[in-house]
Amino acid sequence: MKFGYILVTGAAGFIGSHLTDQLINSGICEKVIAVDNLSMGTWDNLSTLGSDKLIRVEANIANSEELSRIFDMYDVDIVCHLATSPLVLSITDPVFVFENIVTMQKNILECQRNGKFKKLITFSTSEVYGSSDGVVLSETSLLKPQTPYASAKAAADMLTESYAKTFTDKIEYTIVRPFNNYGPRKRVLSGAGIIPQAIKAFAAHEPLKLVDNGETMRDFVFVEDTARAVIEIIKKPELTKNELFVIATGVPRKMKDISIDIAKLMHRPINIEYVPSRPGDVSYLKGNGRKIHSKLGFSPDTEWLEGLKACIEYYTRLLP
Ligand SMILES: NC(=O)c1ccc[n+]([C@@H]2O[C@H](COP(=O)([O-])OP(=O)(O)OC[C@H]3O[C@@H](n4cnc5c(N)ncnc54)[C@H](O)[C@@H]3O)[C@@H](O)[C@H]2O)c1
Repeated sequence: MKFGYILVTGAAGFIGSHLTDQLINSGICEKVIAVDNLSMGTWDNLSTLGSDKLIRVEANIANSEELSRIFDMYDVDIVCHLATSPLVLSITDPVFVFENIVTMQKNILECQRNGKFKKLITFSTSEVYGSSDGVVLSETSLLKPQTPYASAKAAADMLTESYAKTFTDKIEYTIVRPFNNYGPRKRVLSGAGIIPQAIKAFAAHEPLKLVDNGETMRDFVFVEDTARAVIEIIKKPELTKNELFVIATGVPRKMKDISIDIAKLMHRPINIEYVPSRPGDVSYLKGNGRKIHSKLGFSPDTEWLEGLKACIEYYTRLLP
């Protein structure tokens, strides 16, 4: 075992729960402190709930006192910060989402500045780029956020980078910037998550609603691959200090084609209804994951149809 205590924020959510499970199963650390306010996530997402390596803490990271209390109780080495409010909520409640995302980042960085832990691995999102209009996006691409969610995430990234430049001896970070994640445990909110929505619609013989004539394209990464990328980053602190890594497959897929793949795997007819776009919708995202591959030897390796099958198995089990 190489590391002591690793704290994961947003551990009851989609990606955070997969990361928590992998950290525990990999034996890379002594304990995982899983923190979440359960506003969106559920502890039931964790497959390692009974593990003696897991410490669960229900707390609001946007409350600086609640956060500080956790560090007073445990000697934490690394924080993996994944807690977020979702993009769709930023359309209806932009102020809350912006404040939640930016306040959490500020609180975590302040704890680090005050010496409460050593390394921060913090999650960004490909949404910070806005629509790329055919350009392949990498770590150096321009940020053009189109939603309050995306601008809050961009602000959080910049706050982290600025803290590291200002408090050089205190702040060590890695920014992880994943493209769209898919896989089991994603919450099915209205308007979010094409894959669970398609499975739900086709299972119920209802039409799947798609914007932009189904032409919207995204670069989909299987959630367990993203969690594995974080483990690789943790293992190699000297190669990842104050770096930003895009996590992407480099293969953009049209929503229409994804729906067809799902319908075929489910042996259901393709039933699509085209609807108007949401404000701020990003139409094209394709990432370049070469940097993390050349530095750490990491690439997402889950085969697309295998990933979809895992989703179908999981989401059909949840249906009434
Ligand atoms: N899902 C994707 O496709 C995707 C793509 C790129 C980047 N990301 C980023 O990855 C990270 C994880 O995303 P996700 O999809 O797992 O999100 P999620 O919504 O499934 O999980 C986020 C968790 O954070 C918790 N949370 C929210 N506010 C909190 C607060 N104030 N205090 C404590 N907990 C709080 C929620 O209860 C939830 O369990 C986020 O930073 C997100 O921006 C996600």
